[in-house]
Amino acid sequence: MQPVSSAEVDSDSSIEATSSPNGSEGPSTTPDTEISPPDSPFTPSEKLSDARQTAKKKLETLTLEEKFSLLTAADFWRTKAIPEKGIPAAKTTDGPNGARGGIFVGGTKAALFPCGISLAATWNKDLLFTVGQHLGNETRARSANILLGPTVCLHRHPVGGRNFESFSEDPLLTGKMAAQYIRGLQERGVSAAIKHFAVNEQETERNNMNTLVAERPLRELYLRPFEIAVREASPWAVMSSYNLINGIHADMNRHTLQEILRGEWGYDGTVISDWDGLNSTAESLKAGCDIEFPFSKKWRFEKLQKAIDDGSLTVEDIDKAVENTLTLVTRVKGDDVSEEPAEREDNRLETRELIREAGAQGMTLLKNDGSILPIDPRTTKLAVIGPNANRPIAGGGGSASLNPYYTTIPLDSIKQAIKEAGGNNEVTFAVGCHTNKWLPVASPLCTNIEGAPGVTIEWFYGDKFEGSPVLTETRLNTDLFLWDSAPVAKVGPHWSAIATTYLKPISSGKHTLSFMSVGSGRLFVDGKEVLDLSNWTEQGEAMFDGSIDYLVDLEMEAGKAVELKVRMTNELRPISKQKHHNSTHRYGGCRIGFKEQDHVDYIAEAVEAARSADVAVLIVGIDAEWESEGYDRQSMDLPVDGNQDRLVEAVLAANSRTVVVNQSGSPVTMPWADKVPTILQAWYQGQEAGNALADVLFGKKNPSGKLPCTFPRKLQDAPAYHNWPGEDLEVRYGENLFIGYRHYERAKVAPLFPFGHGLSYTKFEYGRPSINKKVLSSETGSTVEILLAVSNIGKVDGAETVQVYVHDEKSRLLRPEKELVAFEKVFLEAGETKHISLSLDKYAVGYYDPSIGHWIAEEGRFDVLIGASSADIRQTISFSVEKSFTWVF
Ligand code: BGC
Repeated sequence: MQPVSSAEVDSDSSIEATSSPNGSEGPSTTPDTEISPPDSPFTPSEKLSDARQTAKKKLETLTLEEKFSLLTAADFWRTKAIPEKGIPAAKTTDGPNGARGGIFVGGTKAALFPCGISLAATWNKDLLFTVGQHLGNETRARSANILLGPTVCLHRHPVGGRNFESFSEDPLLTGKMAAQYIRGLQERGVSAAIKHFAVNEQETERNNMNTLVAERPLRELYLRPFEIAVREASPWAVMSSYNLINGIHADMNRHTLQEILRGEWGYDGTVISDWDGLNSTAESLKAGCDIEFPFSKKWRFEKLQKAIDDGSLTVEDIDKAVENTLTLVTRVKGDDVSEEPAEREDNRLETRELIREAGAQGMTLLKNDGSILPIDPRTTKLAVIGPNANRPIAGGGGSASLNPYYTTIPLDSIKQAIKEAGGNNEVTFAVGCHTNKWLPVASPLCTNIEGAPGVTIEWFYGDKFEGSPVLTETRLNTDLFLWDSAPVAKVGPHWSAIATTYLKPISSGKHTLSFMSVGSGRLFVDGKEVLDLSNWTEQGEAMFDGSIDYLVDLEMEAGKAVELKVRMTNELRPISKQKHHNSTHRYGGCRIGFKEQDHVDYIAEAVEAARSADVAVLIVGIDAEWESEGYDRQSMDLPVDGNQDRLVEAVLAANSRTVVVNQSGSPVTMPWADKVPTILQAWYQGQEAGNALADVLFGKKNPSGKLPCTFPRKLQDAPAYHNWPGEDLEVRYGENLFIGYRHYERAKVAPLFPFGHGLSYTKFEYGRPSINKKVLSSETGSTVEILLAVSNIGKVDGAETVQVYVHDEKSRLLRPEKELVAFEKVFLEAGETKHISLSLDKYAVGYYDPSIGHWIAEEGRFDVLIGASSADIRQTISFSVEKSFTWVF
């Protein structure tokens, strides 16, 4: 935000922007050439960074074998150390909305930030910078040096499994947010690993999917966030993606990695593979994928030597990649070869406050008819209803998940806020329905034999349960995802394990146990086998490679513990996959779920609660089981089978003052949206989700989120509907440039809520803008400056995001109706006016012309559309480009 000046105005006077400080007309300085400046995109800096100088020196001391060892990780998360040559290991950690540390499930507790889309909904660049700094502190507390984030793949389709983790459907918003995040992070000496490069917008068949994408959408959409981040924040690492891009895997794609990233953009950092995402020896190294993650013998080591021998690689190729590896390690670790400290918690007050504030700023008020929000906590009798009301919904699933310091539950936070405000009305609660995709993990009711919480695991060397256990340990969760945490050093590459726990039901009845296994697994209850998955064949969605969830009903008595025992190995299942992976064993793991029998009419309970309250706050949505890395959602509808939609209808019929809060990391179908007066999109907001929600419901904070993605009325309206998720391992990005609002506007399909939309508890008025010159020249650094006043004409303080779109009047190639080119969030006290200035340069007008292989600003007029959302344009002004000019970066 760049407030130029600030002045109080009468709230009822209309606003006149001051005239431009620089005058409004300027002579044209556009050179008289067709294509200018000449092709030279980027002149590499003469001066090498200090880290690269050091890397070069260290490289000279290494043997070829040592060099090879640096090109594959040493274990799951670390690069290889060679202490005797002064080379430390650098440790990575996921990423992106927290720093999880070295264990995937149940590791060191960590701060859980709002997910990517929630951060993007703040549209607050300064906030993202601060978030980056705090993530840097967190990464260091886990003794890590590289945070695997931010995720900047675009929201191509509303059901993308990782949409929650990434920022937006718009490349500019994504790129700008990512750049600030990276700058904040790297300022703390922690490397970002911006991911996944590139065109990785879906999870279905993610390792083998061939994405067919034309050059224009590749440049103008999918590579754009990376391009902006490289230009504005120089990320020290880039992570290649799993998929193929136009027939070539991303880790070995010379076009994207060599020609564009390192060539046109002059990228000076390091490229790492996604986990198990390397697909060749020579090609990937030549293309510029420097480090393979995690440790594997599949592609590198002696195969590198063979490739040198047969001429497909040269020692110079190896040196280049090693130099990049050493540059990254030096950037984050210098010469520090001392022992890596243990991971620690670092639960800071200022981080908790930041997360809560980021939550409120991302909270997106979609509708507030009759101003039901904010609610007066002292006088209003509330019913809090819904499947997400009384449980923590903090984040999505997969590698972005972590073990948070704590979570906050909406119901608790609401009760607490009422108490703090001095209200004494009782809050009634009804769950309304359940939305589990899998049965809840059994762990909360489980103990080991001594009665302490957890599961005991006895590990055996080899896959035959032979001899005595080589290790016995306790884990707290019956979600035993052992991808990165089987003690392979002790149990060897083929292992077996027995997990034992004691489950004590609360009630008597016919309860249900669920069991899924990654490798071979059998479940015993009190010594009797109840499920045999030694040879399962039906693939599910949990744990990346697990079976479906198998269920068994059992009569149980309240308070009487039953013994659950799992015998599992890491043999690869289904057996048919062994050929594909060229291996009989991989990682293992299992998950035990449990649900007690119930006889409640949930909807009737909810209706009763709603009827007797002044306002019903109905908290619906999805969660980490439905929205996760590893798979895409199968539908945009709220799960399960329409039960949440029926609940909304029933509650609304019982109480017209119903506020629907939706928690999800991407759009959901809202068939009831026209009828419900108030809808708040609450995303996944990390450990402070409950508190941030209460802050907004009661008006302690004024929500200022704006949608980073369009909410369509139905999935069939979405641009990629006919091209999702592809078939026969091929997905065609057939919608071309027209994703998100670019499609809805051109196709004239009215969305439910447009891109950029979000209300406030106050109202903002936009003054008439002025522009400092009418012509954008081709000179390097040339800009036009737009100045306009924004007033808060309501009674409470609030923040508005001013969005600037450009419409190209006439162009040789088809262009979207409008494209976001700039935005600023401005905080305004009630009655306050501020002037904001927005700067537009060639990037605001250019498009990529594949016929010349350049970006081009074509001569002609450009309308600048200034608005509160993509569909709510408040002011328009224009400027022109007199003579076309082109550039590369
Ligand atoms: C994900 C990455 C993640 C890595 C390490 C991969 O499966 O795609 O985003 O950083 O695992 O967990």
